[in-house]
Amino acid sequence: MITINQHYLKLQTSYLFSTIAKRVNEYQINNPEKEIIKLGIGDCTRALPKVCIEAFHRAVDEMADDATFRGYGPEQGYPFLREAIAENDFNNRGVDIHADEIFISDGAKCDTGNFQELLSSDISLAIPDPVYPVYVDTNVMAGRTGEFKDGRYQKIVYLECTKENNFIPGIPAEPVDLIYLCFPNNPTGAIITRDALTQWVDYARDNKALILFDAAYEAFIRDDAIPHSIYEIDGAREVAVEFRSFSKTAGFTGTRCAFTVVPKACKAYDENGNAQSLHALWNRRHTTKFNGVSYPVQRAAEAIYSDEGKVQVREIIDYYLENAARVRQEMDALGFSCVGGQNSPYIWIDTKEDSWNFFDRLLHNAGIVCTPGAGFGSCGNQHIRISAFNSYDKVDLAMKKLSTALKSKANPM
Ligand code: MLT
Repeated sequence: MITINQHYLKLQTSYLFSTIAKRVNEYQINNPEKEIIKLGIGDCTRALPKVCIEAFHRAVDEMADDATFRGYGPEQGYPFLREAIAENDFNNRGVDIHADEIFISDGAKCDTGNFQELLSSDISLAIPDPVYPVYVDTNVMAGRTGEFKDGRYQKIVYLECTKENNFIPGIPAEPVDLIYLCFPNNPTGAIITRDALTQWVDYARDNKALILFDAAYEAFIRDDAIPHSIYEIDGAREVAVEFRSFSKTAGFTGTRCAFTVVPKACKAYDENGNAQSLHALWNRRHTTKFNGVSYPVQRAAEAIYSDEGKVQVREIIDYYLENAARVRQEMDALGFSCVGGQNSPYIWIDTKEDSWNFFDRLLHNAGIVCTPGAGFGSCGNQHIRISAFNSYDKVDLAMKKLSTALKSKANPM
């Protein structure tokens, strides 16, 4: 008899963004005349930078000619892209990362979800609350948690992120082996200071723990005091893996390209307590289960590191940051307590009521899609996340509609 991985049965019925899309589709079917403005999932709306499109075209032309055609590429990614990343994202910032420590992939969602496969199923796990659901769900699938009770999975150490700690997770009282951190944060938009990140790196070093650091929103950092990479912190090379993505940086959500940094010094331990190289294990996994990102996509990603590419990427991110500032300004003016929207495309808003109720009322009364905070964990309840990924005109219109709906006596939000 064929049997299933029983741990899948512990998962909540569907993935957060699929649940939201279903609710929005239902609403749209029942109200076809209503205009909906989507500020829910963080999906880019601006076209790819011009340099990427030009690089894409050139690479497609190469594929059209026997003399320049490419078949299988290196699973880890082409050297031209790995070298450009090492130089521009790390070395130019004084960070010691080598091209062969960078693994190109088709997404940070997949990489953050897959990396835990290298680790034993009986490790203890610390996950912030609220959090990007992929970290939790993939550990549930791997059998590292107990059942879901009262809004939480047993056996996870939840690191509560609230207004009281500026949405930065504190070091837990009990020892943990694996820690997920994401900064600039999804969903709260909070950033981490160098000092707070240093405390986590020191903790991981003292406890032989590992930090999985998701820096998918790094390109939104504008404040020079904020670390762009965990490797800016002394000792992090030994205890941290970093995930980056071209999705939000350069509009690659549909094009797909990302990378994971696994320093050669980064170790985890076998059952005899001997240090093993995570770089070697990830390389083994990657070469076995993945055949590389397509050549034209890697050429398009490489193009963002040219002088022109840097200017074009900055202009796109500035555009989304302006949207974020508009949301923040309106929500502040309406008296909501908010975090994020600076150095981040997400604004995290305290609604003081059930987040799914607020989501429904925002959809029905103002035609706006947000993300209910409860979908990111119990600390997310009574919060919503608004994303800055849309056109400025639509964001502006959404804020006007939201303000009108909130102030309406006939149909109060
Ligand atoms: C989000 O809205 O949280 C992200 O777009 C989801 C993702 O990157 O997978």
